[in-house]
Amino acid sequence: MAMFTHLLVPVDGSEHAKRAVLAAAEMAQRYDATLTLIHVLTQSGSLAVPKELKAYSELEHVRISEQDLIENAGKEILRNAETLARNNGVKSCDVMLRSGDPATLIADYVKTKGVDLIVMGRRGLGDLAGIFLGSVSHKVAQATDCDCLTVK
Ligand SMILES: Nc1ncnc2c1ncn2[C@@H]1O[C@H](COP(=O)(O)OP(=O)(O)OP(=O)(O)O)[C@@H](O)[C@H]1O
Ligand SMILES: [Mg+2]
Repeated sequence: MAMFTHLLVPVDGSEHAKRAVLAAAEMAQRYDATLTLIHVLTQSGSLAVPKELKAYSELEHVRISEQDLIENAGKEILRNAETLARNNGVKSCDVMLRSGDPATLIADYVKTKGVDLIVMGRRGLGDLAGIFLGSVSHKVAQATDCDCLTVK
């Protein structure tokens, strides 16, 4: 039996998370494992809302709530990550969208779904220079007994 059968990759749309998807895709192929991509919506998710979409909604006075914009951006992050995984040989891939505190919800998923390995970016979208681990990757690693791989 393979050592890792269920990999979890938390994604936030950052380049770090993309590299985590690529590393996990390679492992998923090797171990014939299932890969789950999870994204957690947060209020500051609005930072990730595409400028064009925001501008459009303002220009056209379309009633798109901030929540809808955040949710759409989150779905887009998951779609892109799934495409990247599948283009890199992953056969069994599913996506998970949650809303709330990222680290808590990622750790909860790990506990309830029998994840063998978490593969995440060492950093994410945050731009504080000089930090080794982001707060989400740090908290996830502390909150779970699961093996963790942080990708640079
Ligand atoms: N909202 C999220 N949903 C899912 N995964 C996330 C989320 N935020 C971060 N991650 C995961 O955690 C990794 C590290 O990101 P993290 O947010 O900890 O670092 P940062 O953005 O550089 O710092 P900080 O957010 O503390 O300012 C990301 O590469 C991604 O794998
Ligand atoms: Mg972050």
